[in-house]
Parts: sequence; C-alpha cells; structure tokens
Amino acid sequence: NNNILPLKKNETVAVFGRCAIDWFAVGYGSGGDVLSPYIVNLIDGLRHNGVRLNEKLLSTYRRWRSQPKNEPFSGYWGHWPYSYDEMLLNSETVKAAAAESDTAVVVIGRAAGEDRENKLKKGSYYLTDEEENMLSLVTTAFKKTAVVLNIGNVIDMAWTDRYNIGAVLLAWQGGMESGNAAADVLCGKVNPCGKLTDTIARHYEDYPSAYFFGNRDFSCYSEDIYVGYRFFETFDKSSVMFPFGFGMSYTSFEVECENAVICGTEIKLSVSVKNTGELAGKETAQVYMKAPEGSLDKPSMVLCGFFKTGEIQPKETEKGVISFDLKDFASYDDSGKTGRKSAFVLESGTYEIYLGSSVRNCKKVFETQLSDLIVVQQLSEVMAVKGADKFKRLVNRNGGEYEYAPTVTTCLQQIIINNIPEDIPVTGDRGFKLKDAADGKISIDDFIAQLSDEELELLTRGEGKMDSPLGAAGNAGVFGGVAKSLRDKGIPPIITTDGPAGIRLKSVCSLLPCGTLLACTWDTELVKELYGCVSDEMTEKGTDVLLAPGMNIHRNPLCGRNFEYFSEDPFLSGKMGSACVLGIQSGGHSACPKHFACNNRETRRNKSDSRVSERALREIYLKNFEICIKESKPLNIMTSYNKINGVWSHYNYELCETVLRKEWGYEGNVITDWWMQYAHSPEFPQIRDNAYRVRARVNVLMPGFRAFNRQGKDDTSLLETLGQFRGITRGEIQRAVKDELQMIIRLKKCDIFADGQDNNKKEVI
Ligand code: BGC
Repeated sequence: NNNILPLKKNETVAVFGRCAIDWFAVGYGSGGDVLSPYIVNLIDGLRHNGVRLNEKLLSTYRRWRSQPKNEPFSGYWGHWPYSYDEMLLNSETVKAAAAESDTAVVVIGRAAGEDRENKLKKGSYYLTDEEENMLSLVTTAFKKTAVVLNIGNVIDMAWTDRYNIGAVLLAWQGGMESGNAAADVLCGKVNPCGKLTDTIARHYEDYPSAYFFGNRDFSCYSEDIYVGYRFFETFDKSSVMFPFGFGMSYTSFEVECENAVICGTEIKLSVSVKNTGELAGKETAQVYMKAPEGSLDKPSMVLCGFFKTGEIQPKETEKGVISFDLKDFASYDDSGKTGRKSAFVLESGTYEIYLGSSVRNCKKVFETQLSDLIVVQQLSEVMAVKGADKFKRLVNRNGGEYEYAPTVTTCLQQIIINNIPEDIPVTGDRGFKLKDAADGKISIDDFIAQLSDEELELLTRGEGKMDSPLGAAGNAGVFGGVAKSLRDKGIPPIITTDGPAGIRLKSVCSLLPCGTLLACTWDTELVKELYGCVSDEMTEKGTDVLLAPGMNIHRNPLCGRNFEYFSEDPFLSGKMGSACVLGIQSGGHSACPKHFACNNRETRRNKSDSRVSERALREIYLKNFEICIKESKPLNIMTSYNKINGVWSHYNYELCETVLRKEWGYEGNVITDWWMQYAHSPEFPQIRDNAYRVRARVNVLMPGFRAFNRQGKDDTSLLETLGQFRGITRGEIQRAVKDELQMIIRLKKCDIFADGQDNNKKEVI
C-alpha cells in the first residue's frame, strides 16, 4: 500500500472489473453451496460506506452485463467458471473515467472448488489478456490504482510488478457480508489486520510441490516436510513476494519480547505490542523456532506460537504471553538416523526462538541448548511408503538433495489380528433404550447385546442417500436411527449437513467467509465465536453434524478446495480447526473435521494416491488433525477420498486406529467421505468393502446404501464372512457401533428420542 488506501473522503472512485458486481462470495461444491439470504457485492459495500462512485463507468458495466451473452455463466457441478469474461476496455473509456475520478479500484475475481482444480492457465492461476489490458490501461490513465483480489486461493501476483499499482487488498471470498467488509477496509472504517497463512511466491514453479503435484494416478510428496515457508525460508528466500505471516495495517507496530522463561522444554515469552502509528489497530505477534541440524535435517523456521491483540490505540501497548513446548515441534525419525526409529525426537544443540510479525520480519529473542537427544514419544511405524512405490524426497543437505523415503517394514495383518475385540454375547431385545445406557442404568454393552446382526449392519452405514426425509430438506444424509427397529430402541437419526461455509440446506442459512480468510484473522477466539453462531443456527434448522472444518494443508496453490482449508502450516491449521470445532460443539452439536488426510488435490480425488513419507505425514499432514483432535475433541471425523501410500483412507487401519485412536486418544465416530471405493483387503483377501472398512475402524459409510451397492447387487459385504476364519467378527462390528452410539450419547440426542419419538421434530418417520 503506497498510501493509496484508505480511500480519502470525498474522492471519486472509478471501479473496474465486473467482479465488483459479479462478486465471488465463496467457492464451489459442498463447501460453498449455501443458500445465502443475500450477497453484498463490492459496489453495494462501497455505497454503504458513502463512497462517491463514477456512475457513468458503472452504468457502462451494467449495460454490458445486461446483454444475454455477457451474463455470468454459473456452470454446473465440477464445471463451474474459474472467472467470468471481462468487458474489453478501450483507452477512451478509461481516460474519460480518469478525467472524472481520483482513484481507480480494479477487481479481479476467481473461484474453484470441489472436483474443480485450479488450472495453470489464464483465467485461473494467471490473469486473462482482458484483465492485463484493463490493468495496463487503468494504471496508465490513473495516478492511483488499488486492486482488490476476490479469490479463494493464491494466484499469480507477478503482475503487481509490471503495472503502477498503488495498493493490493487480498479480500479472499468473504461470504454474504464480504462486499461490506472489503469496502470497510478500503474506506478505512476498519483497519486491516489479516496476515497471510500461505507464502505467495513469484512464480508457480517456485512452489516446492510445483513439479510433484501429481500425475493421473498419484502424487509423490517429494518436497517432504518442506511445505510453504518451511521450503522458502530454508532453500529459496528470494522467490518470495509476500512471506507467510505478512499483512499490512494503516498503522504500525513494534513487537518486543519483554521476558523469556524456559522450564525444561517449555518456553514462555512475555510479549509487548506497541501501536507506533496514528490509528487504532490490531497486530499478530508470531513466534518461530529454528531447531539445530542433527542427524535429521530441519526447516529453517517453524511457527510455534502466536498472539492476536485486541484493538490497540495509538501509542498504547498490549501485553501478552506466548507459551509453547519444544516437544510439540519435535522431528519424527522415520529412518532411524538418530538411533530412535519411529520416535518424535528433539536433537541436541541450540534452539533459536524468533519473534516478530511475519516469518521474515522477526528477530531472534532467545535461544536454549539441549545437551542430549530427547525422545519425546516412541511410536511405531505407520503408513510408510510401499517398496514398489518408493520415491525420493528433499533433504536439507548441501543446499538440497534428494534421498529415498523409507519404505514399509511392518506386518499390518498381525497388528490387526492382535487387536480384534471379543464378541459381546447377543441377548436379543430386552426392552432397553439407548437412553438407559446414557443414564447409566445399563452398560453400553448391555444395549448393544440386544442388537441383531442386521441392526448392527444398518448402524455401520448411513440411510442411503443425501437429502434424507429423516432430516431437514437438503441435508447431506443421515446415520444412526435409520430404521424403525433402531428408532424403537431409542437410537435417533443423526442428521449431517455441509460445511464449512455455513449450513448447506434447502432453506436459507448464513454464508460464512471461506476457511483461508478465517485463518488469516489469526484470531481463534473470533473464529470460535463465529462457529458458535453457526451452532445456534444448527439448532434452529435441525441438524446435528456440520461437516466442517475443512482441514487439509495448502500443499499447492492449484488445489481446488484450498479456499475451504486454512493454511500451509499445520500448527495454525490445527488451532483454527480447534476453534471451529469448539464453536460448533458449544451448542450441543457435532463438528466433523475433514478430509482425514492428504486430500491435497481434486484431480481424480477418489483414485489418486498421495505418496508421502511417514515423517512428512506426522509433522505436516496429520499434525493439524492431531492438534485439533486433542484440543477440541470433535465427536465425528471424516476420512478423505484419496489413498495414502496405496491405501484408501476409508480402509486405512493405521490412520483410523493406530494413529487416531491409539496414539491421539480419539473417542468419537469416524465416517467416510461420501461413498467409497470397492476393494478387497490385501491383508485379509476374503473380506471386502464394508467389512474391510469396519475392520479398518471406520464406523459409518456415508451416505450409505440401503439394500444395494453401486453395482445394483445386494450389499452383503459386511456380514458375508461373519463366523468364517479371518472373516469379520461380530465383536468388530459391535466395536464400530459402540463408538457410534457413545458419540450419540455424548451428543445428548437420545434424551429427546428416549421413547423412539423425536419430540423436537413432529414429522419424523
Ligand atoms: C465432499 C465432502 C462433503 C460431502 C457431503 C463430498 O463430496 O468431499 O467434503 O462433506 O461430499 O456433501
């Protein structure tokens, strides 16, 4: 911002770019498809702020837009537009506008979404010729030009160097109120305080995953742990245009460390943030750690704490404390190089701590020595790369070398066999209701003992379709009490709805800012409060589970669903995920973090294999889920569509049992992403599909199937091997049902369904 923003009072503003009107409030697919009561576009927002607009120019746009051929094409599933054709400007129009206006605001809009990857093409990642022409004409004719980027994921920004642009506002896609919000910032009513949650590099090719985004069937995560700023700060500082954590304000701040205390590996920094400018504003103090190089290579910087201030008046100071434990940022040894294979370790050496306002603008405030290696947690090998699929990964040696990621050495079959539970002896119906278990009158096992095999089977899959008549119109599907005999036992139907951009129903619901924008607030309290409001709306609309937050890591700017997700950094992403879950669950509902894990592209998302080292998994792609699960205890979690090292997430025992439940202590319910891929278990070839899934500790297939599978045949896959050698056991199915029913008890849904009647919802059944 070269002093162009905020717009001065009484200046006339010429707005260019059709997206000022055809504003993108959200991206596409389940994570955007909310029936919003209204959408405030940028023009409306500027008017609400009393800005004097160049009306002649605006009418030119409106006239052009009203011709049928220029109407915005809304597309259809998976074929939505990335951008809209721009009105071709000529220099006369622009010069005439410049003669009558003081400042130009140019709006550039983009969207992508589910099943819709961004493309490395003009109109998606790059500007179109018409947009370049617009920028060229406008920045020549106007002395002052501000650009508003109305986008869902990072796009090319190299063009900012080519034109005389005075300011850029990265407005993201901000939901139904976003035109007001962006205009408030442009006009100075609100002092901006967002900070990037991703690095913006000069060229797409500079991103560490650019050459490994994947072919048709798989992606090798060869950049390994060097995702986003971890890569740029370690290997390639000069390719960064805007660093991770960067963001501007209309005032200025000084972030200082007043005191640092260390106790073992726990560090506590007392931080002061002084407003040194003329306007009130908010700042985010950020702490990064540089761990010593040892047997394991390390990224130069790792975010390990942050603190968002309240509004600080000019010349005033706010104090805060940032505490963290080095152990939470330990390195995972998947190779045995430290002598402690499969352990999180802190290697000996100097740990440097940096404080500042972005990964670049920070200074060393403290350092501490560890004289010996600390084994933080001894775990066991999980989800390692298959020998046949081995690939090389980046290591920080000699400026960057590649070496093979370690491959599998364990025998999963035996691990699973050792953990098969005993059957609960079947008693038949003894008249117990689920509420009796909730009230502690009987044990949950007593309740489950009553269920027939058919009832158990029904509980492991949803009712069979989206928009179930058992829930509010437009729901994503229902599980739990999907049959009368189950409801008679007091098991309520559990209604799911998308998320994360609001509640996706056929009725009107609030449309929220996209996940990336929310994360750019770095304000976990605010995000929690927002989802607390969504929780109230869930009560009003009658839904139990919001299929949110979207938590996948921004591995590459082209991923179509990046707008739903938070960041390239797992710590920030985990904290934001927890905030959403705590908000949603504050009103007695369930969140459902998704997509667990490595859903980092949309191209052939059901088929593609994410090939990733165990170290990168544990330090990056699972870390965010780990933080969220441990801090906020979501009642549900959704697996991803993709495979991880050859195994679909919905069949991934190591993901859903070893890591999620055994290591992290998750006690909730695991559901699939919508539908699943059919397959036989490689460890137990006699079992397939639903039996393979239940054995892998994935409780519920969503939205499920009623009596038939996709091939139109009777779906007997769960029960067909019951009682056979190495077939599915009743104990395994009962265990799946137990997690689910305990989740329903925690949801307190059986209280209102004690007699098989949902007293809150008359028309049920
Ligand atoms: C998406 C999920 C979504 C589900 C239900 C799937 O296609 O990947 O994120 O929650 O549909 O709509």
